[in-house]
Amino acid sequence: MNRCAVILAAGQGKRMKSAGPKAMCRVLLKPMIDWVIDAVRGAGIEDICVVTGYGGEQLCAHLPEGIVTVRQERQLGTGDAVRAAAEFIGRRGGSVVVLNGDAPLIDSGTLREAFEKHTQEGNSVTVISARVDNPYGYGRIVIDHRDGSLARIVEEKDADEQEKGIYEVNSGAFWFDSADLLRSLEGLRGDNAQGEYYLTDTVAILRKAGKRAGVYSTANSSVVLGANDRAQLMELNQIAKRQVLAGLLADGVDIPCPDGVIIGPDVKIGRDTEILPNTILSGATVIGEGCVLGPNTTVEDSVIGSGVVLDNVKCERARVMDGADIGPFVHIRPNSEIGEKVHLGNFVEVKNSAVGEGTKVSHLTYVGDSDVGAHVNFGCGCVTVNYDGRAKHRTTIGDNAFIGCNTNLIAPVTVGENAYTAAGSTITEDVPAESLGIARARQVNKEGWVRGRK
Ligand code: UD1
Ligand code: CA
Repeated sequence: MNRCAVILAAGQGKRMKSAGPKAMCRVLLKPMIDWVIDAVRGAGIEDICVVTGYGGEQLCAHLPEGIVTVRQERQLGTGDAVRAAAEFIGRRGGSVVVLNGDAPLIDSGTLREAFEKHTQEGNSVTVISARVDNPYGYGRIVIDHRDGSLARIVEEKDADEQEKGIYEVNSGAFWFDSADLLRSLEGLRGDNAQGEYYLTDTVAILRKAGKRAGVYSTANSSVVLGANDRAQLMELNQIAKRQVLAGLLADGVDIPCPDGVIIGPDVKIGRDTEILPNTILSGATVIGEGCVLGPNTTVEDSVIGSGVVLDNVKCERARVMDGADIGPFVHIRPNSEIGEKVHLGNFVEVKNSAVGEGTKVSHLTYVGDSDVGAHVNFGCGCVTVNYDGRAKHRTTIGDNAFIGCNTNLIAPVTVGENAYTAAGSTITEDVPAESLGIARARQVNKEGWVRGRK
């Protein structure tokens, strides 16, 4: 049977006080909308429609390929948002799961199990719910005690005292029979406290039409948590952080002190790697075994080998091979590949460059737009001068070359294999292999000069 998903993300999230759409607010540095999309895809559903509205351009620019988007012109409520996707749903038929873009902790297993229950019970709609300690702000699940089915969902602002005492709440994720959903949307009335078209009202409408409504209640209450404001966003971050760290610890990653440690949900880390305080790992980062990362280290969308040390490092979209020893205070910028057992030391910046195996760049050096061979030694304070004010040019350095202290390499330029540059040289022409390039004025000593000046 056909299965598709509709994710509601048109809301501004006024209470978030953000300039962008709420679904782009991040949990563990990953936008909430991406958490929801990954959960849906993890449940084997690839046919996904996102309803956009406020900040829709920003959202559309961010969404991965293959996602359909529709626009809800005015944010008239969750039921109205689903209406914007009516054509998408109608064309697919079968079953559709509708989810909130601001409830990131929903997971694939829950979506799958809820779907099983939905089909087994022959429901028109099955809501995913959980019991929470503080139900304030959530839609309450009202059960029909005659048969345990779902009678209706009451929003906080429309609930009476008795209903407010219900702790079972709506996650905002539902499985629907697509045709039944479309028919019930026509029956929505905005006659409630907020004057909105509530998706939750479809439950009572479907029951009135003689259809069955069910509940899939999950024991994992974080699944239902949504973020409407920054305080809830922080709470979600804390819950997600605990979950991610617990998973890593169970896999043999060493995190002796989690202070300031933020690790994204998609980061992979090998066993015996130690994560020290203030280390932030995000995106599609992969880290090998037996590394020491931190303190004060940021790694974004990078692949790090095994036995690597990153001490006070910022590394973006780069690759670092096994046994590299990096830091302290090193910046590795995008499109760099740092070879095996390379050492980058104090205040070194590497950008868009390959650095070969065993090369040492120990202090105060900039390597940009360069192809550096293996076992090269950079003295202190070297600069690859890659920019002439108009265009960027590359520097090439052969294996085993020795770049003397304070060398400027004016690109485009090549230093051959086993060649040397003399300290203090500004190299504007290629240095052939096995040669010494000297490009500086010869020293003149003026003897007695100081006495004469007096
Ligand atoms: C909603 C549910 C509530 C549930 C809670 C779970 C309704 C009426 N209420 O409440 O029962 O417990 O989620 O977190 O559905 N959106 C649109 N267009 C709109 C309005 C909202 O796309 O016109 C999107 C929002 O961007 C958001 C989602 O729908 O991603 C939920 O909307 P929100 O206003 O946050 O609903 P809640 O008040 O949290
Ligand atoms: Ca919400």
